[in-house]
Amino acid sequence: MTFIRSFIHSFFFFFFFFFFFFNILQPGTKWIPFSSTYMRPLRTHYGYINVRTQEPLQLDCDLCAIVSNSGQMVGQKVGNEIDQSSCIWRMNNAPTKGYEEDVGRMTMIRVVSHTSVPLLLKNPDYFFKEANATIYVIWGPFRNMRKDGNGIVYNMLKKTVDIYPNAQIYVTTEKRMSYCDGIFKKETGKDRVQSGSYLSTGWFTFILAMDACYGIHVYGMINDTYCKTEGYRKVPYHYYEQGRDECDEYFLHEHAPYGGHRFITEKKVFAKWAKNHRIIFTHPNWTVS
Ligand SMILES: *[C@@H]1O[C@H](CO)[C@@H](O)[C@H](O)[C@H]1NC(C)=O
Ligand SMILES: *[C@@H]1O[C@H](CO)[C@@H](O)[C@H](O)[C@H]1NC(C)=O
Ligand SMILES: *[C@@H]1O[C@H](CO)[C@@H](O)[C@H](O)[C@H]1NC(C)=O
Repeated sequence: MTFIRSFIHSFFFFFFFFFFFFNILQPGTKWIPFSSTYMRPLRTHYGYINVRTQEPLQLDCDLCAIVSNSGQMVGQKVGNEIDQSSCIWRMNNAPTKGYEEDVGRMTMIRVVSHTSVPLLLKNPDYFFKEANATIYVIWGPFRNMRKDGNGIVYNMLKKTVDIYPNAQIYVTTEKRMSYCDGIFKKETGKDRVQSGSYLSTGWFTFILAMDACYGIHVYGMINDTYCKTEGYRKVPYHYYEQGRDECDEYFLHEHAPYGGHRFITEKKVFAKWAKNHRIIFTHPNWTVS
């Protein structure tokens, strides 16, 4: 009995030290002893699975920067500020090259829609070789993400990690996808499928970032009333593409009977989350309390 108890004790002791030193030595993780984050191991996110190893995602950040793809980013000159964050999140194929002064140069996590995977594969040497330090999190419906050989996007990703073995590509599990739908239902009272809409990449990014980040700064995202505000700034939908106007696109999506993203509804929910989480929206600034 005594033997077993001392065995258990030394076992826990070993774990205590293992986690302590392991976390101190993690590059990119700011480990502050005696702070509220004391002894917090790297968080495991079981809803995100590595395509090559089938291991779940490990991710734990202090202050995160989520950089919007919006034309609002043009001329903001917040690149240096963004690059000082402990984790920098971008979405879909948003570029940094040529836009560094406004959006920064580093990318730690890139959350990508299944429909944007072909866009990344137009430039695979950049995304999966040069930017091999970036973690890719791909979301998509089961029909495209299934692993039995019939998921066309999963197949593309599988091929990609065969060619680029250092690429860190994760896919969202079917269970996690339902969980994200469930949150939409809980927050809006609407069933996403019945309402004929798709969740946005921003939605999936927020849900993971709220689990992985101690605090979040969101750059370049407009709020739910922005497009109805007197004298709002008219900008392109994406900072890296001319043509489509941001507010036109938002209205089009919000009212599309099928296949739209409810960007405006989602922004209302983000504002609510910002009241209970450490989330700040800047450029343009939101006041949420
Ligand atoms: C990862 O990226 C770095 C920097 O771009 C590059 O030097 C290195 O060769 C890449 N590693 C692999 C295995 O592709
Ligand atoms: C927005 O917030 C940032 C950071 O809090 C601040 O530096 C900036 O002056 C604000 N801009 C406006 C227009 O209020
Ligand atoms: C939303 O954005 C508009 C335009 O920037 C601003 O006037 C308004 O105060 C913002 N509302 C909130 C709640 O942040």
